[in-house]
Amino acid sequence: METLSHQELREDCYIIEVDKGDDMKLAVIVGSLRHSSHNLTLARVLVERLPADTETTWVDLRDVPFMNEDLEANVPSSVVRVADQVLQSDGVLIVSPEYNRGIPAVTKNIIDWLSRGSTGNVLRAKPVAIGGISTGPIKTLVMQSQLRPVLAHVGAVVLTSPVLALSVGEDNMTAEGVVSEKTSLHFDEFTRALLAHVSLYSEAQR
Ligand SMILES: Cc1cc2nc3c(=O)[nH]c(=O)nc-3n(C[C@H](O)[C@H](O)[C@H](O)COP(=O)(O)O)c2cc1C
Repeated sequence: METLSHQELREDCYIIEVDKGDDMKLAVIVGSLRHSSHNLTLARVLVERLPADTETTWVDLRDVPFMNEDLEANVPSSVVRVADQVLQSDGVLIVSPEYNRGIPAVTKNIIDWLSRGSTGNVLRAKPVAIGGISTGPIKTLVMQSQLRPVLAHVGAVVLTSPVLALSVGEDNMTAEGVVSEKTSLHFDEFTRALLAHVSLYSEAQR
């Protein structure tokens, strides 16, 4: 896999498709627009652990406007691009922060767009796994408990276990992406479950 620095990843990953083969296609959505996002680092560390035959498409949310039904007559090209990335993928990984004990607007906004007939309702029947990391002790658990029913409502098939919720720090994962031994085992368990989930439900979609 091509290795990029965090900064390069932030600047370039959203227009790069890291081709790892043609066995499984995974779209990765990071619900933070921050350059040094811990959630981007988490997503990157997880993707690095995927098998070589996984093709990963990074979704760029920076130019996606707020959901506005007035825009649906002529869906913005950024939204069309994201919808196509999700449509072409066998599954989706959403890695998101928690804001004020809830789902950040960035994360919710793209789900709202993708839930519409104007974008093909591309999350319907799509296998999705979620995770998140925060700087506080709540570890994004409140956000995740809100995100699950939202995704279920739009028809996505959400991986329920294991839960991937972390706090930044040496016990879990540092800001630089250094992972503790215990968390490393947890990541292995999570990526195995993610692949099995996507494999099972993407088959069912065909
Ligand atoms: C508006 C706002 C609200 C926040 N609320 C929470 C919260 O409810 N729970 C939490 O664990 N962290 C909260 N945080 C702290 C985030 O966990 C922290 O900023 C984290 O680094 C954001 O993710 P990112 O690094 O991927 O951007 C909040 C941060 C912001 C900016």
